Amino acid sequence: MLDRVLSSTARYLFAYNQTPAKIVLDPIYALVARALLRGEIPLSPRLTAKTFADDLYPAYREHSRKLQYFIEDWDFTEARPELLTKRQRGVVHTTTLGETSGMAVSDGFLRAFRTSRELASFFGTWFVEELNHFRGFHRYTELMGERWPKERVDAVAEIEFRAYSDDPLEIAACNMYQELLAFLVYRSLGRQLRDPFLAKMVTRFGKDELRHFRFYEDVVARQIKRDPSFRVTVLKVFLKATTPFNQVSGGAGPTLQHVANGLFYFRKPEYDFFLDHVELLLGTRLESLFETYFKMLAPTCEQCDLHTFRCACEVFEPGAPN
Ligand SMILES: [Fe+2]
Ligand SMILES: [Fe+2]
Ligand SMILES: [Zn+2]
Repeated sequence: MLDRVLSSTARYLFAYNQTPAKIVLDPIYALVARALLRGEIPLSPRLTAKTFADDLYPAYREHSRKLQYFIEDWDFTEARPELLTKRQRGVVHTTTLGETSGMAVSDGFLRAFRTSRELASFFGTWFVEELNHFRGFHRYTELMGERWPKERVDAVAEIEFRAYSDDPLEIAACNMYQELLAFLVYRSLGRQLRDPFLAKMVTRFGKDELRHFRFYEDVVARQIKRDPSFRVTVLKVFLKATTPFNQVSGGAGPTLQHVANGLFYFRKPEYDFFLDHVELLLGTRLESLFETYFKMLAPTCEQCDLHTFRCACEVFEPGAPN
């Protein structure tokens, strides 16, 4: 029953759940999340075995400074945008929008994190790392001959972004979720691109997103160990599919289009990775729920006819670029 209710309404709930309707919708999501996690679900053995530092930032910083790079040092004359398919050019605009949204969301993040030495410090490093993505994708759209006019960039940056929550830990969970999706989409997209330059750039960005994801996941997992009921908030964030796209795309239609662009690259290996982390955090994979959920949102693979999250095809778009 719950599955049916979800599938008929969640598609639109999902597009609207960051609008002012959030005040009404948030408690419903929390209710559903609580119902799905009812009973005594033990913490996953993997989570039980883990220990976490009280301040996760020093280790993050130590790791991240060894991997530091500056995208402007890359030789963009190697780029071959003519090797992209039409869909891939569209996806580049989706990722460009995602990376531009950083300009709109960041003050809210810092505000929520300002009294946490750990999260505020991480914010500083994170923002600098995201700048490579922001500048790299805009440079690439220029090379595609599809540069964003300044007004379009400004319009995204100027959006008065509604905070995901007042609770810094809930924001950390939201950020964890979107870093996870960014990593999975970049990894998968990087394997499909025939422009070696863009493939390398997107793969590199994906590794940054994976590091961001792991940091936030540790913050969230540590909180779940302290208070297992925090899993309800985490599941709520997953059900809401909280990302900046809801607020920066310009309405429900474009939001769902960007989501479809991303989900085209969310295939079986990505879905398996996703469920592994759901299980680590929640103690259950909730497979039938997520099956229904992704069926509702995911496009179909043109090669094998399966929903993309079930598809294990190696090449998603065979043939010449068009
Ligand atoms: Fe990014
Ligand atoms: Fe990131
Ligand atoms: Zn397929």
